[in-house]
Amino acid sequence: MGWSASCINPFPASSHLLVAINMSKHLKSSQIPLRKQKRAWLGNEKARCVLAYYGLQKPPYELDALEPYMSRKTLEMHWGKHHRGYLEGLNKQLAKSDVLYGYTMEELVKVTYNSGNPFPEFNNAAQVWNHDFFWESMQPGGGNEPILGLLQQIEMDFGSFTNFKEKFIEAALSLLGSGWVWLVLKRNEKRLEVVKTSNAISPLLWDDIPIISLDMWEHAYYLDYKNEKGKYVDVFMNHLVSWNMAMLRMARAQSFVNLAEPKIPVA
Ligand SMILES: [Fe+2]
Repeated sequence: MGWSASCINPFPASSHLLVAINMSKHLKSSQIPLRKQKRAWLGNEKARCVLAYYGLQKPPYELDALEPYMSRKTLEMHWGKHHRGYLEGLNKQLAKSDVLYGYTMEELVKVTYNSGNPFPEFNNAAQVWNHDFFWESMQPGGGNEPILGLLQQIEMDFGSFTNFKEKFIEAALSLLGSGWVWLVLKRNEKRLEVVKTSNAISPLLWDDIPIISLDMWEHAYYLDYKNEKGKYVDVFMNHLVSWNMAMLRMARAQSFVNLAEPKIPVA
């Protein structure tokens, strides 16, 4: 087997990306630490092929930590089956070709969207990214209100925190079919906005910066709330949403979007 493009850079800087090397000596990658795999790769000219795959990230809390608002049963099914299914489906698709090798998940979502003519990998990649983002949009003991800059920005862009909540809930309940509701920072308009997207689509695709997301696919709420979507959305806003994470994301977003008056350097 000759060298392929995927053999050029087997260790891109992505914590989400796991790498397995098919060495000529048939090393089993699962049995050796990644650091040793890398050394083996660098020192072995007979290394022939790299298979890249993505690992399943666990929610940043135990599966029963969101009870009684989101049950362990829901997390086991939603994360353990649906999210895992998207990830395994994606890895299977990626194993067929090395064209999409080496991207972070966010890059993979954008690349596979292909300007609106999505590659077959898009749905799985986007749903993996969306779900990772969603799990981190919640925390045990969530709800309440954000503080400091995020609260001020919400009040500036929505009039009040109550208005924002109403707009978010209304967007969730008026979404047709499966999809997502987001609080995003719009890069060009420099303001927060509530948006909804269908199926696997995410605001990343038009360069908005997501701050919070809510999964409105039926699998997200049916076990706990049956068809009572209103209860699910209410519980998310009042008991689950992580304003701590939202504030961190907002701080990060502000390294790309200057929400203040630009300061002109004085010579
Ligand atoms: Fe979901």
